[in-house]
Amino acid sequence: MYGLLLLLHILGATVWTGGHLVLALTVLPRVIRERSPSELLRFEEGFEKIGMPALLIQIITGPILAYRLLPNPVHWIDPGNPVARVLMLKLGLLALTAAFAVHARFRVIPRLSEHNLRVMAWHIIPVTLFAVLFVVVGVSFRTGWFY
Ligand code: HEM
Repeated sequence: MYGLLLLLHILGATVWTGGHLVLALTVLPRVIRERSPSELLRFEEGFEKIGMPALLIQIITGPILAYRLLPNPVHWIDPGNPVARVLMLKLGLLALTAAFAVHARFRVIPRLSEHNLRVMAWHIIPVTLFAVLFVVVGVSFRTGWFY
């Protein structure tokens, strides 16, 4: 069971983080250069179909994996516990990702035009950075980088 959960978690990570890296490093620069909000919307529309289920998988499998490391969720917010500190980093990244994603989805995307593409970029870049940090923090459960 643990192997399956970890596999799903890593698959979700590849889709979420990989998709955002493609968006930030290849699609976004072209969209800004060509002032083409429609191209960005086309990518978002396609990515949403696999990106959102991938994030949902992370939100479901993450806490189950955490439960295996620290069976009492009360200890997840104990700053004296090194595993909990890493978990709190994950939960903090999740809160930041949700805040940026909700703001982009409901406030920026509905009014997207060639005039506010940079506002959208200032959502895509941080969310991509958080996505990479999710992976770094995830790997640190094993390596102890943040303990
Ligand atoms: C998009 C979001 C996320 C990404 C990209 C991500 C990525 C990763 C990666 C790459 C690992 C390393 C797995 C390994 O060492 O083999 C990991 C581990 C882990 N992640 Fe996440 N993660 C995300 C969200 C979450 C969330 C929301 C939680 C919940 C608190 C979470 C909890 C964990 C735990 C507990 C582990 C350690 C699993 C273990 O080694 O037993 N993750 N994550």
